[in-house]
Amino acid sequence: MEYQDTRKDGIVFFLLKNDTNQIYVTNYGATLLSWLVIDRHGMLEDLVLGYETMEEYQTQDGYLGACLGRVANRIERGRFTLNGSEYTLPVNNGPNSLHGGTSGFSHRIFDWEIVNDQCVRFTLVSPDGDQGYPATLEVAITYTLEGDTLSIRYEAQSDADTIVNLSNHSYFNLDGSPSIKEHTLKIEADRFIPVDADGLVVADTFAMSDAMDFRQEKPIKQALDSDDEAIRLGKGIDHPYVFRTKTDPVVLASSKSGLELVVNTSYPQAQIYTANYLDGRPGKHGVPMKAQSAICIETQYRPNDINQDPQSLTILRKGEKYDEWTSFTVRKR
Ligand code: BGC
Repeated sequence: MEYQDTRKDGIVFFLLKNDTNQIYVTNYGATLLSWLVIDRHGMLEDLVLGYETMEEYQTQDGYLGACLGRVANRIERGRFTLNGSEYTLPVNNGPNSLHGGTSGFSHRIFDWEIVNDQCVRFTLVSPDGDQGYPATLEVAITYTLEGDTLSIRYEAQSDADTIVNLSNHSYFNLDGSPSIKEHTLKIEADRFIPVDADGLVVADTFAMSDAMDFRQEKPIKQALDSDDEAIRLGKGIDHPYVFRTKTDPVVLASSKSGLELVVNTSYPQAQIYTANYLDGRPGKHGVPMKAQSAICIETQYRPNDINQDPQSLTILRKGEKYDEWTSFTVRKR
C-alpha cells in the first residue's frame, strides 16, 4: 500500500487502490478523504467532499469523512446514567453533546497498521473519563477495499461498562454538482424518527410522510423542496431512518454521472443528513461547500438511545466485543 508519512505530527495518508478505485484515508480521525472513480462518461469523480488542507480538518467542525465516537449523534443535555451513576459530557451543539464531544474521535490521531495492500487498520486507546465517558475503550476502525466496495469495520472493547455508537460522517456527492437535490435516493425504511429544533430525536416516536418517504427511489429535491414539518424543523433531512431490510437499505444515485452508491450495514438504522449546516466554507480546490450539496449516510444505533432505553444496544459491557460494519459499493448504472 502506498502511504505518506512525511509530516512531523504523526498524521499519515494512505492510498487503497485497484483498477477502478482510488481511496485516500488518514489516521487523523480515521477519516475518508477522497474516493476517486471513473463515471459512466469517462469522467473522474470524487465521491466525497473534503477540505483542501489537513489544518482545516483539525480546526473545523463538519466532521468531513471522519469517524464519529465514542458516541455518534446527540446525547440529550450531555447527560446519561449507567449502572446508577450519572455522567456528564461536553455540550457542544445547542443544549446537547454531539459526535463524542468537543474532542471526539474525529479529532484524534489514531495508531495505524497496514493489514494488506487494500486494508488499513486504525487503533486508539480512549482513556477512562475521555470526554466524560466511563471506562478505558480500545477502538479499531478498519478500512478495506474489495472490488468496488469500501467497507468500514468498527471494533471496540472496554475494561468496564460504557456506551459506544461508532459511525462515519462522509459527505457523498456522486457527480460534483453544487446541490444534492437532483440525486435520487432509496431508503428501505417504513419510518423515521422525528427530531426537535435542536436535532435531538424525539423519544419513542416514529413517523412517515410523503416527503420523507424514500421507499420508492425518488429525487431528493422532492423532500428538500417540500413544506413538510420534519424538513422544516431539521432544515432539510437530518433524521434517523430505521431499516426494514438488511439488504441494500440505502441506495444513492446520480443520473448525471451514471453512478450509484449502495450501502449495507450491520447497524439497524442510519442518520440521513443532507449537509444542511454546511455554510459555504471552502472545500477541495477551494470550491465552496454549501448547504445541501451532499448527503451523509451515518449508519448507527438509535441516537440518544441510552436516555430512552435502559437496555440500550449502545451499552458495551466490560469485556464484551463491539463489532459492527458498513459497506459502500459504487456501481455504474
Ligand atoms: C447531525 C447534524 C449535524 C452534523 C454536523 C450530523 O450527524 O445529524 O445535525 O449538524 O452531523 O456535521
